[in-house]
Amino acid sequence: MTAMPDKQISELKVLISENDISKKVKNLAENIEKVFPENEEIYVICVLKGSVMFCVDLVKHFSHNIQMEFIRISSYGHETKSTNNLQAIDLTLPNLHNKNVLIVEDIIDTGLTARFLTDLFKIKHSPKQLIFVSLLNKKCARQVDIEPDFYGFEIDDKFVVGYGLDYKGFYRNLPYIGYFPDSKSSEKIS
Ligand code: IMP
Repeated sequence: MTAMPDKQISELKVLISENDISKKVKNLAENIEKVFPENEEIYVICVLKGSVMFCVDLVKHFSHNIQMEFIRISSYGHETKSTNNLQAIDLTLPNLHNKNVLIVEDIIDTGLTARFLTDLFKIKHSPKQLIFVSLLNKKCARQVDIEPDFYGFEIDDKFVVGYGLDYKGFYRNLPYIGYFPDSKSSEKIS
């Protein structure tokens, strides 16, 4: 039998509309492009699965030549909260030494994933330039001292879904960002 989400879509409240996301993504793309040299390619790293919608919409606005790469990050064990025990899986990247690299994330919550990714790319690849963009930024939930170079929206300590973000694998397909009124960020399930 197919698993059903235990939170119903009728309970969802819209936090950021499709239209607002679309305007913000275009604006972010224009600003991000300015930091990369003209006539040089950008390697765009889409961090699956949550940033898939954001990443594909973002790159549509780029005029640079780009290469798209995809990685997944997972936690060891079955944690329901953020954990330090992160590992990169499905990490088959080309040699990014001396390349322009843009990491695209859906949300920075505790900051553990952003820290892990930034350190990984700096140490393993020593790119020419490493820029980190996240659509959402939950500054209030931060556990490590890290900020993205660019972000779209700062949000409160809410558990959000939609536009790539999921609850137990569901709701990634929603075109807007929504939240369940009774939920807190600590309900995060990866
Ligand atoms: P961090 O390591 O705590 O910053 O969390 C980063 C990852 O946790 C994100 O890439 C998301 O996959 C997931 N995450 C954090 N907050 C939320 C949320 O509110 N909804 C859905 N996923 C979230």
